[in-house]
Amino acid sequence: MHPATARRAVAALVTSKIREIANAGLDAGDVLAFWFGEPDEVTPQFIRQAAGEALAAGETFYTHNLGLGELRAAIAAYVSRLHQPAGTDRIAVTASGMSALAIAFQALVDPGDRVVAVTPVWPNLVEIPKILSARVDPIALRFGAGGWTLDLDRLLDALTPATRVLVINSPNNPTGWTVTPDEQRAIFERCHQRGIWIVADDVYERLYYRDHAACAPSFLDFAPPEARIVSTNSFSKAWLMTGFRLGWIVAPSALVPELATLIEYNTSCSPAFVQRAGVAAIEGGEATVAATRARFRRARDRLVGALAALPEVDVALPPGAMYAFFRIHGVDDSLAFCRELVVRERLGLAPGSAFGPDGEGFVRWCFAASDERLDEGVARLARHLRSRTVR
Ligand SMILES: Cc1ncc(COP(=O)(O)O)c(C=O)c1O
Repeated sequence: MHPATARRAVAALVTSKIREIANAGLDAGDVLAFWFGEPDEVTPQFIRQAAGEALAAGETFYTHNLGLGELRAAIAAYVSRLHQPAGTDRIAVTASGMSALAIAFQALVDPGDRVVAVTPVWPNLVEIPKILSARVDPIALRFGAGGWTLDLDRLLDALTPATRVLVINSPNNPTGWTVTPDEQRAIFERCHQRGIWIVADDVYERLYYRDHAACAPSFLDFAPPEARIVSTNSFSKAWLMTGFRLGWIVAPSALVPELATLIEYNTSCSPAFVQRAGVAAIEGGEATVAATRARFRRARDRLVGALAALPEVDVALPPGAMYAFFRIHGVDDSLAFCRELVVRERLGLAPGSAFGPDGEGFVRWCFAASDERLDEGVARLARHLRSRTVR
């Protein structure tokens, strides 16, 4: 019999280390878990109601591959408000931010192509190109007293003419690092000169805490509409809609018909009633976004303040996203450390090594949680760290 195995590129994919820890801990129901990147609140009622009404009205059919015209127009208006004017012909609706990324890479990379990624990063961003048999070269952020920073010259040097795509997630999961407008311009200039595509994963752009800005700096703020930039986005985080599975792409209009073809061969379209919820969210959800950002900012300050008081922890205030990514003295196997935390303290954190080799020695804590849960989590971590010193 021939072995029932997947092709080589698929067999070589790494499985999620976050899942490895979570699966080990989920059997024990009393784990205080901060391992997934998911807000702890249910989707606002007006958004759920829009989905419910669409279902009740019988919206159970396929839509256009690129999404409902109304949603595409609403997204185009939203992008135009936040960044620069963008037409509906630049928008593709996708069945999640994850699907947006998969489709973007399917559109842009061939087997053997070189992709440069700023890391540590959410593992999906480097595994998706590998599914397509592309090669991913990481450029690591640096951690210091002021937090995570980019070595811009190193990144620019890595953007060789043989590079096909630069993937950049800012604000970044897991570090919160956010690219500055000056860095963005330098990166854009280099990519533009060399014909390198930029895939900008912008799912955390509204969860940005510097200068009380409404949005993080974006390539969409200044790049010409036909430049080689594909921005992927999602309703999951800022509108508390992880379970809806709805996202979008902003791309040069010339690429959009190709995206439509790829959407046909991936999901064909997003469910119509989910898209109706998206219209409600984007048209009526600014208050939700502002409240979410304010709540997460308070949670970030509370958690990072408490972690900074632990002598074994090195932590900096992340300017964006919803995670603290901190170093623990003496930890060189973050997977083993997180497993120990689940077993002994029933505290669920994500190991830094899940985000690539540059994340080793760190752990990630999603702070989209209530004060009580955060405080209890810190108490459990502190107890565990004390017990390690005595042992
Ligand atoms: C950096 C990043 N990009 C994209 C996503 C995708 O989100 P979704 O597939 O829920 O839209 C996530 C989710 O955790 C993420 O952290």
